[in-house]
Amino acid sequence: MTAPAVEAIDLVKRFDDNTAVDGVSFVVPEGSVLGLLGPNGAGKTTLVRMLTTLSIPTSGTGRVAGHDIIKEPDAVRRSMGLTGQVATVDELLTGRENLKLIGRLYGLPRKYIKDMSEELLEQFSLTSAGNRMAKTYSGGMRRRLDLAVSLIAAPPVLFLDEPTTGLDPHSRNELWEVLRELVRDGTTLLLTTQYLEEADQLADDIVVIDKGKVIAAGTPTQLKDQAGEASVVLTVTNASDLRQAEELMRSCSPEVHVDATARRLTAQASGLGDMSHIGNVFEKSGIEVDDLGLKRPSLDDVFLHLTGHRAEPTDDLEVDNIQEPEGVLS
Ligand SMILES: Nc1ncnc2c1ncn2[C@@H]1O[C@H](COP(=O)(O)OP(=O)(O)OP(=O)(O)O)[C@@H](O)[C@H]1O
Ligand SMILES: [Mg+2]
Repeated sequence: MTAPAVEAIDLVKRFDDNTAVDGVSFVVPEGSVLGLLGPNGAGKTTLVRMLTTLSIPTSGTGRVAGHDIIKEPDAVRRSMGLTGQVATVDELLTGRENLKLIGRLYGLPRKYIKDMSEELLEQFSLTSAGNRMAKTYSGGMRRRLDLAVSLIAAPPVLFLDEPTTGLDPHSRNELWEVLRELVRDGTTLLLTTQYLEEADQLADDIVVIDKGKVIAAGTPTQLKDQAGEASVVLTVTNASDLRQAEELMRSCSPEVHVDATARRLTAQASGLGDMSHIGNVFEKSGIEVDDLGLKRPSLDDVFLHLTGHRAEPTDDLEVDNIQEPEGVLS
């Protein structure tokens, strides 16, 4: 049996009287993706900083690729890459130069650095921008360069602190695709996110943290199951059919909600069987339908269920998060 890629063992971090991380434990099996999900200030960055040896735990410990984060920090650093929440690329260097710089700092052979840089630029669609200064890059390009730089030493374990925060949906999708490729090639990922959808898209397992504590853990499906039942959502074409549609829906489901403005009916259901039954009933009735679908509870619903509040992403992260430098080599 191989050791887990990452282990957090009862990790605690206190800043004066503020307990940022309060006894967190989890295991990330080799080759899998763990999503650490939580709102602003939950303790995600603090956890990542402890696991990547940038910050010493108040108590507890952890292991990366089998190495203890307190007793063997050098071995930990050699087994991992980190893309911090705040961009770390040198703005005045080109993409290629950034890769070369970090490769040299790692003491990698020149030929290896050259070949690996070209490979990474290609993989992250930065080949043609490779000779431009990083300050001319868009947010998405910068994030991709950040990620490329953290991969120069081909680490088996990669930590990503909110990799897609601030990216537009298109760049976000692109980055997700790159991350999936890394995982296909065997990299273990631990990523933090405030986006429930991101955890759902990428993670095999999710650990939800709030106020420094683990409040739930499981696969995306297990977490969604906790938030209750699915529902069938049907939109009628003509508002004049709403009343009749509601009656029909009530004959199919015990709980029906009507949104008249949206011409939409939502009925509690247990799965696809209920949806196709409702579809058949409406087809026979002759009521014209715009749309029919099954909605499973989202991770957002799960968070609401667990904490009593929504996990709303906010935009002012960078401002109050300027901490010690995030560079692995500093
Ligand atoms: N260097 C520090 N000194 C004092 N307090 C800190 C420090 N770093 C973090 N904290 C506090 O620890 C708590 C957790 O912060 P952390 O940055 O880990 O949260 P986060 O989950 O990463 O949030 P975000 O989503 O906003 O990045 C917060 O209350 C924060 O103010
Ligand atoms: Mg953070």
